[in-house]
Amino acid sequence: MYSLIRRAIFSLEPETAHDLAIQALHWAGQKPFYPLFKALLNAPNGQPKTVMGIEFKNPIGLAAGADKNGEAIDGFGAMGFGFIEVGTVTPLAQEGNAKPRQFRLPEVEGIINRNGFNNYGIDHLIENVKRCRYDGVLGINIGKNKLTPLEHGKDDYLICLNKAYNYAGYITVNISSPNTPDLRQLQYGDYFDDLLQSIKATQLQLAEQYQKYVPIAVKIAPDLSEQELVQIADTLLRHQLDGVIATNTTISRDNVTGLANAEQVGGLSGKPLQHKSTAIIRRLHQELNGRIPIIGSGGIDGVTNAQEKIQAGAELLQIYSGLIYHGPALIRALIKAIR
Ligand SMILES: Cc1cc2nc3c(=O)[nH]c(=O)nc-3n(C[C@H](O)[C@H](O)[C@H](O)COP(=O)(O)O)c2cc1C
Repeated sequence: MYSLIRRAIFSLEPETAHDLAIQALHWAGQKPFYPLFKALLNAPNGQPKTVMGIEFKNPIGLAAGADKNGEAIDGFGAMGFGFIEVGTVTPLAQEGNAKPRQFRLPEVEGIINRNGFNNYGIDHLIENVKRCRYDGVLGINIGKNKLTPLEHGKDDYLICLNKAYNYAGYITVNISSPNTPDLRQLQYGDYFDDLLQSIKATQLQLAEQYQKYVPIAVKIAPDLSEQELVQIADTLLRHQLDGVIATNTTISRDNVTGLANAEQVGGLSGKPLQHKSTAIIRRLHQELNGRIPIIGSGGIDGVTNAQEKIQAGAELLQIYSGLIYHGPALIRALIKAIR
């Protein structure tokens, strides 16, 4: 069934196909259609797991970027995801980079995107979140506007954190997109230290204000040296972050040289990222040693690689590109197999 849908999807330009899919999933999540859509997909419940102090009905989640504005949360929810991460969202709406900005590499089940945080802004996202009926864990992934100078990047994260706190199951601080100029600089040295210190202080103050503790995860890039990874782990531990998502897309083209679209600028996801992200998870796990849970993301295309990421130290998993190439059957298989 999905192979037919995929053929139709792949006949369209990638972002057009994505926008149509979001529209379709938006409607699939609306009242008259939702029970039918849910019954059609017949997703298993899976095995519950408590991570970052919250219970997930299963360890399989939708990675950020698929539903940037929270328009299709219930449609994705019907697929059985134990958690859905919406965003990346920024304080102000922004258009992102010029189109075309998404490219398929079908020979290797890869995608390159340079979207640049196109989104309608945090206020719009929160209105959509308020309307949804999804009963899994909702993550809200936050970022900074392109026009905000790096020195003031922290302010953007704090604006989003304040606005998202009361509506999120957890919050992700995204400092690893390759498509916002210099954003990845926030992963290093004083920028990182200062950002995490402010985020932690704000989290504790919001926990007091709302009388509930919402965990915060940091999403990191796969393109880190050994030394950088050790420093990141150390800073996460020092500021007592609640989780780390490994990894975002890669700027490396090691596994795709010579293929059509391989030289497009942007972040590469899907199968070519698979082993790189697993290696980062493994190394990070050695440093963190279970003190901060790892959410694994990057090229998961089936049960075998999902198990590898769990064995490497991930406690939860997220997919995006695999869903495009394999459809909801991938989610079903993962939910059934992964503990
Ligand atoms: C088209 C596209 C857009 C993305 N947008 C975001 C984003 O806005 N924020 C983010 O944290 N990650 C974003 N990602 C990265 C994914 O969340 C994920 O970490 C990465 O693609 C690796 O997983 P995958 O190989 O299963 O796709 C995006 C990925 C793709 C393919």
